[in-house]
Amino acid sequence: MKLDRLIAAYQSMGRQAAHLAIAGRRVSVDGLIVTDSHHPVDRFMRIELDDAPIQLPERALYLMLHKPAGILSATKDEQHPTVIDLINDPDRHTLHIAGRLDRSTSGLVLLTNDGRWSKRLMAAEHKVPKVYLVETSEPIAPEAVEAFARGFYFHTEDITTLPAELVILGERSARLTLHEGRYHQVKRMFHRVNNRVTRLHRESIGAFDLPPDLKPGEWRDLGALAAWAGLNSGDSLNFRNSGFRG
Ligand code: URA
Repeated sequence: MKLDRLIAAYQSMGRQAAHLAIAGRRVSVDGLIVTDSHHPVDRFMRIELDDAPIQLPERALYLMLHKPAGILSATKDEQHPTVIDLINDPDRHTLHIAGRLDRSTSGLVLLTNDGRWSKRLMAAEHKVPKVYLVETSEPIAPEAVEAFARGFYFHTEDITTLPAELVILGERSARLTLHEGRYHQVKRMFHRVNNRVTRLHRESIGAFDLPPDLKPGEWRDLGALAAWAGLNSGDSLNFRNSGFRG
């Protein structure tokens, strides 16, 4: 939202009065006078008019969680425990999930109450890499590497999957990097090469690696600075380098 809209709505001041107040140096955002009416603001900022708060900042949360298999990637469920049930923060009910995992999948889940951040992270055009460790029921054929790189046509969505990097680690294990996140994507891709995923674990999303010391069921507060820095970083963040990488 633009600053002038927020000020205009305050006690129905109107746009004209809002512009005059902003130009007259009467409005501050997070403690600094702002004179640009189009300055972008959100609900996490403290905004004052004549030194009186007209918006108190909400607490922005950016969390990483090691989801154990068996827990639902949902914010509410009547029957099954959800990722939110694992988080003992008073503001946990404001959170949404940036990139769900199937119930049987373990690994990194990111949660936030900042829609701008999750939208940027999940935007299809950014093709943020997601790295998975996969175990399968059958041996993984070497030809699968080429097939995953070429992509698979999914009839239901009428799309061809983006080139994915499959690295075979053992007879029945591999590391797979996807640049999109479609419904049951990993399982459906392995199904196409006549195989079945028996274990799936997400190691990373973009620069966010699951830390080796974050146990299943545990979570960690990233903090706003690291969360936003991670969006703009092409590299893994060093202090979060994962011991899962072989
Ligand atoms: N692909 C799947 O099939 N399941 C997941 O949980 C994530 C990616």
